[in-house]
Amino acid sequence: MISEIRPRRLVCLTGFMGSGKSTAGGFVARQLGWPHIDLDKRITEAAGLSIPEIFARMGEPEFRRMEREQLERVVGEHLESQKPRIVSLGGGTISQPQNLALLRENGAALIWLHCPVEQLLLRCAIVTERPLFRDEASFRRLYEERLPAYESSDYRVDSHAEPARVVEQILALGIFPRVIA
Ligand code: S3P
Repeated sequence: MISEIRPRRLVCLTGFMGSGKSTAGGFVARQLGWPHIDLDKRITEAAGLSIPEIFARMGEPEFRRMEREQLERVVGEHLESQKPRIVSLGGGTISQPQNLALLRENGAALIWLHCPVEQLLLRCAIVTERPLFRDEASFRRLYEERLPAYESSDYRVDSHAEPARVVEQILALGIFPRVIA
């Protein structure tokens, strides 16, 4: 984990399914007055389909292609406008090495919302919109597989907490420049 503190204008939240990336991203962006981008939402808007529909009709490889395309757009828009952004990534976004490379090359800060797998299982079991949540064994396996990618993040916060506490931890990282969005 890199502990160097420097202001960042493209800040991405990563973490496994159920770690609270969309919720925390929305709150942090509101506090800062920055735009919030939810990558899954971008994908569903572009496709005109829900995430489960994309997986069911086109398969995961096509979902990953769309995810990559939308991530490129988000990074491109940021570079063009030079405006700061909070981006909530999907749970699998940075486990695709080319996505991680794209974010790194463009100076994005990656914040890992860390949560024990038991808690993630509880959270995801009550929501039916995650095609990659099939059963407990495969969920745990995928979590283990992805840990190295999450661990490569610049910062880690504990997301096994109330959303307000997660937001507090993110804001306390001290990486947000005082800019007007
Ligand atoms: C995925 C996580 C989902 C969504 C898609 C694939 C993954 O996002 O991008 O279902 O590969 O873990 P959340 O992490 O927001 O659930």
